[in-house]
Amino acid sequence: MHPRPDAITLHSKNTSLVLQCCKRVPELVYWGKKISEKTSVAMLATLREQHNCAGGPAQPAPLSLTPLLGQGYTAHPGLCLHSEDNINPVWSTAPEVREIISNQANACTIISEDITRQITLVHKLELDQNTDVLTLSTTITNKRSTSMTVDWCAAAALPLPSHINNIMGFEGRWSQEFQTHRLCQHHGAYVRENRRGRTSHDSFPGLILHEEHTNENQGEAYGFHLGWSGNHRLMAEKNVNGQTVVQLGELLLPGEITLLPGETYQSPVLYASFSHHGFTTLSQQFHEYVRNNILRPTTAQKPRPVHYNTWEAIYFNHDLDTLKTLANLAAEIGVERFVLDDGWFPGRNNDQAGLGDWQIDTEKYPEGLAPLIQHINQLDMSFGLWFEPEMVNPDSELFRQHPDWVLSTPPNPQVNFRHQYVLDLTRPEVFDYLFTRIHTLLSELNIEYIKWDMNRDLNHPGDAQGKPAVHRQTQSVYALLEKIRRAHPSVEIESCASGGGRADYGILAHTDRIWTSDNNDALERLKIQKGFSYFFPAELMGSHVGPRDCHITHRHLPMALRAAVTLFGHMGMEMDLRELTDSEKLELKALVSLYKKHRRLVHTGHLYRLDHGEHSSAFGIVSKNKSEALFSYTLLKSTTSTFPKTYRMNGLHPTSNYKLEIIWPTHTGDKWPASSLFGIKTNLDQLNGQIFSGESLMQLGLQLPMLTPQSNLIFYLEAQR
Ligand code: GLA
Repeated sequence: MHPRPDAITLHSKNTSLVLQCCKRVPELVYWGKKISEKTSVAMLATLREQHNCAGGPAQPAPLSLTPLLGQGYTAHPGLCLHSEDNINPVWSTAPEVREIISNQANACTIISEDITRQITLVHKLELDQNTDVLTLSTTITNKRSTSMTVDWCAAAALPLPSHINNIMGFEGRWSQEFQTHRLCQHHGAYVRENRRGRTSHDSFPGLILHEEHTNENQGEAYGFHLGWSGNHRLMAEKNVNGQTVVQLGELLLPGEITLLPGETYQSPVLYASFSHHGFTTLSQQFHEYVRNNILRPTTAQKPRPVHYNTWEAIYFNHDLDTLKTLANLAAEIGVERFVLDDGWFPGRNNDQAGLGDWQIDTEKYPEGLAPLIQHINQLDMSFGLWFEPEMVNPDSELFRQHPDWVLSTPPNPQVNFRHQYVLDLTRPEVFDYLFTRIHTLLSELNIEYIKWDMNRDLNHPGDAQGKPAVHRQTQSVYALLEKIRRAHPSVEIESCASGGGRADYGILAHTDRIWTSDNNDALERLKIQKGFSYFFPAELMGSHVGPRDCHITHRHLPMALRAAVTLFGHMGMEMDLRELTDSEKLELKALVSLYKKHRRLVHTGHLYRLDHGEHSSAFGIVSKNKSEALFSYTLLKSTTSTFPKTYRMNGLHPTSNYKLEIIWPTHTGDKWPASSLFGIKTNLDQLNGQIFSGESLMQLGLQLPMLTPQSNLIFYLEAQR
């Protein structure tokens, strides 16, 4: 047994966290801006000491990392248990700290035990030195001789200072992912629950709490994200003392987790971070954490190839000649990876049949996929293939042979959801079947990339025994991805679920890219991509140039705008390339070259979102050493003032001189297509190629000309020696 310290202090570059452990439970006394050794734990504990109050308990119940009903805590507990037997009932459990292991400077494990009820609770915390991201998880072990059910086990409950009183939450739907809402917190709980069995479009597992005036570059903000791709519950509860406690954890269905004697449940990991420089810094911290700790180093180091995806070009109408033509056009434009999306397996002529039968459709491809892949490889592009492994259509050979392989809740009829059911991956035979089918195709064909889709919720998540199975299904999906990765380490995998319905750090531990949204409308994408950027770095963000008339919004947008928006993610295109006019083709080619030239900067740099009002979108990416940067400006709608707001950059080195180049739109002579009004000469030429100090660009900023709505400008800045 290690000697038990009275307190634990963890420091990272900009943050400190202090836990007091001298009492019965581990209590967070401080988490925020880095403090020096001048500040003692005793000072902090005294300062936050709660006073006696009239009409309340003489001493408040302990607010531990897992606040408990059994300890007198009357707001939402961090752990809810029940058991059938009434001997030492588990609902009132109250484990006490027994041991603290902290053999790493920035991590600790706290082991608490309830000796009477024979329950062990383990809290694991780690504060990442470089990125200020705190990871937390809670594990519960049943040491009893009888079983018990876990109803809720938050990854942690974290009290926040009372001036952190505002919430930025996430909402959305298919094709409108990562939308944000803002609200001021009142007494009671802000709760988001996801019961869809996949991360979901509408309740992204992220939350930001902040002080009233926090903006992109100032003010305090705390960010939270649950790394889990199943059900979840996020909660920010302001109790009667005025204190807000944040909890994130897996939402467990009734009876979903029953722990037999000796069994353990571990919560998903909560990723949390604090910034005292606003939202942009908070995002940068999460981005760096993902880059350094979650993504595979192999993917992180390789340049992300330009994608071509066939979905919006041909949907289910596959034909070798057409595909070869598209491949030729793609190669000509500079594409590096060609992804065949859906439609390639037997019976898949629409979305009503075929899922589950993971073999090549010999009607569409009499000689299999090899001739197409060879053609693509000869054009110097790699080949990727779409799968939706977790699903089966009732109209498929697989379902006809194994109708019992699906998750269901008989006799309830299945909700119709894209004509498909969810396979029960907790069954070893289903897991093995899927692995074998995917493994065989990856072994026989030169497939270097998988788009892993998942197009329905788990509406009937019962296994063959009738038990709820979302938790185990999620674990099985992770295990299947991992098994495929181990067998084919060079194959990259994209996480897609009807667009961005499965974007979280849990799935990212097993995948390499996220399909952000099916919505390729550049104007809507700017908003979706902004929401995505709070927790995810640019290189993960699949971003495709869509058709001239967007298939989802039917908005008609110029190529200059459609292309520009994709530069700041993992760029690709998804349209019938045969529709391109010569000038569109030239513009697209130009953007592809820019992407290739600047992808390293975009995929390793620091994102700076700029507060620029509702009329425009403004952000930039600055290299870590501040030697170069790209800034994007899009006018979304006309302004009432003659000239748009001054464009003030951020993140540059104040006293370095930068050469400013306007690299988008592509232009000839002195004309700026789509960005000048009535041919009036703008001052853009005066700015282009000039040298400016970082501080002048950040403090004063650029006066932009009057532009037409939907125009986009991209500035490239290079520090001068
Ligand atoms: C989902 C995906 C799309 C596409 C289709 C194919 O909707 O989000 O990108 O792959 O499935 O059916």
